[in-house]
Amino acid sequence: MSKLKNRIEIFPLSTGDYAAAMALWQGCDGIRLRQENASGTFFYRFIARNSGLCLGAWIKDQLIGAVLVGHDSRRAYLYHLAVAQIHRRQGIGRRLVQAVLKELRRIDISKAHLFVEMDNEEGMSFWQAIGAEHRTDLTAFSLTAGATQPLKEGGQDWPLAFI
Ligand SMILES: CC(C)(COP(=O)(O)OP(=O)(O)OC[C@H]1O[C@@H](n2cnc3c(N)ncnc32)[C@H](O)[C@@H]1OP(=O)(O)O)[C@@H](O)C(=O)NCCC(=O)NCCS
Repeated sequence: MSKLKNRIEIFPLSTGDYAAAMALWQGCDGIRLRQENASGTFFYRFIARNSGLCLGAWIKDQLIGAVLVGHDSRRAYLYHLAVAQIHRRQGIGRRLVQAVLKELRRIDISKAHLFVEMDNEEGMSFWQAIGAEHRTDLTAFSLTAGATQPLKEGGQDWPLAFI
C-alpha cells in the first residue's frame, strides 16, 4: 500500500498520525472522545498494539478518514470510524471497513463488533447500508477498573479485594 498522488489511498495509521487523526475526529459528530482516550499516549499504545489494523484514508498526505481496530484474538472491535465531512458519501467509509475486514481475515478473525451511540442516525444508516448486523439481542454494560465504588453483591457492598 502506498500514498499515491491525487488518489484516495487506504494505508495503516502510524503513531505520527496522532494530530491529524485527532483533528479529524474532533470535527465529527458521532465520535465521542473521552479525555483519557484523546491523549497521545492512548493513541500510540493503541496503534502499537494493533499495528496494521488501524487504517487511514489519504488524499496525498491529507488524512480524510480513519478507523481504530483492536482485537482479543477472537473478535475485533472497531472504534472512531470517521470520514471528513466534505469527502462523505463517496464510498470511503465502506472502503475503510472492507480493508479492515480483509486485514482481520488475514489474522483469522471472522467477526468484528462496534458500538454506535443511540442518537447517531447517520452512523446507524451507514452500518446498516454496508451490511452490518444490528444486534437487538444484546445491550452493552461497562465496568470501570480501579473505580473507588465497590462492586455490589446481594444488595451489600463488597470491597473489590474480596471478589
Ligand atoms: C459514518 C461515516 C463514517 C460514513 O462514511 P462515508 O464515507 O460517508 O460512507 P460511504 O460513502 O461509504 O457510505 C456507504 C453507504 O452508507 C449509507 N450512508 C452513509 N452515510 C449516510 C447518511 N448520512 N445517511 C444515510 N445513509 C448513509 C449510504 O447507503 C451509503 O451508500 P450511498 O452513498 O451509495 O447511498 C461518516 O458519515 C462519518 O464520519 N460520520 C461521523 C462519524 C460517525 O458517526 N462515525 C460512526 C461511528 S459508529
